[in-house]
Amino acid sequence: HLRAVVRGVGHYLPQRIVENSEFEESIDTSDEWIRSRSGIERRHFAAPDETTSDLATHAARNALADAGMEPDDIDAIILATSTADLTFPSAATMVQNKLGMTRGFAFDVQAVCAGFVFALSNANALILSGQAKRVLVIGAETFSRILDMQDRGTCVLFGDGAGALLLEAQEGTGSSDDRGILATDLNSDGRYKDILYVDGGVSTNTTGVLKMQGKEVFRHAVEKLATTAHTALEKIGLSGDDVDWIVPHQANIRIIKGTANRMKVPMERVIVTVQDHGNTSAASIPLALSVGKAQGRIKPGQLVVTEAIGGGLAWGAVVLRW
Ligand code: ACO
Repeated sequence: HLRAVVRGVGHYLPQRIVENSEFEESIDTSDEWIRSRSGIERRHFAAPDETTSDLATHAARNALADAGMEPDDIDAIILATSTADLTFPSAATMVQNKLGMTRGFAFDVQAVCAGFVFALSNANALILSGQAKRVLVIGAETFSRILDMQDRGTCVLFGDGAGALLLEAQEGTGSSDDRGILATDLNSDGRYKDILYVDGGVSTNTTGVLKMQGKEVFRHAVEKLATTAHTALEKIGLSGDDVDWIVPHQANIRIIKGTANRMKVPMERVIVTVQDHGNTSAASIPLALSVGKAQGRIKPGQLVVTEAIGGGLAWGAVVLRW
């Protein structure tokens, strides 16, 4: 019974840290408003010449080092991003090249803030179907490039960064005690396009900025995240009681608390990094996994649930034993 088991994890954050107070100089906002509404205290912004594939490559190298592997040990790279360097080629093939990898295959996945969960699920499918033995799953974003820095309702919420997980095919027993990915649940519903989107793109010959109806997103988020996490757990006969760590998409502390509350999991069992990273979209879950492991909190054998929602709407959850 094949399982996609975590062999390594790593992350990278751009050097420049932007504190909430920096926004007070350019827009009508306050550190207190941003903290109390979102839980965010600071975020990292990439340097002007630093791209998504740069951040992703740093995170990938850190995950490879953690696993004690070389780039040519990898069969596939899946990069979740909505902010690729160019329209094409994929940012994943740029990472492949920067790593000096000339074998295997690489592609991007675009499911906005849910991108990492979608990428993990795809990596799991590649491994279970025997198409790849080792897959590097990366989430990387430069959301600072698609923000309207005059829109106080959105520009204070997002940040840049990257995280990576290295998955390897290993034999398990088929029980929920196995290490590796145990269950996934993916969803999308395009009727909700207008509550979270970028109002421009290649096929409309425009460049755009992020637009969001914050209250609407919030309302959908808590309900849909708790449901998808429960659905994934139920597939293997488990519940919130069995969970060691929820590692949620880091959008907003109020969404994170609301979801944990619905799942009846206390906040002591939730990894929270939103205060330091802001919302890094597809990068937020692998960043939180990497930080959680580095802090000595996430340990081998523990049951981890990741859940995320974003533009689309697209949402989902992955249950894995670390
Ligand atoms: N500073 C000060 N005031 C602000 C700011 C700001 N940065 N932004 C908005 N306001 C004002 C609004 O203009 C409004 O003023 P008004 O009443 O005079 O019109 C007031 O604050 C209240 O605004 P609301 O939108 O009602 O504030 P709310 O309590 O809903 O909080 C927030 C806004 C934080 C965006 C919240 O709705 C939220 O967290 N939504 C979820 C959105 C999210 O996390 N999206 C991430 C992308 S999707 C994802 O990753 C899950």
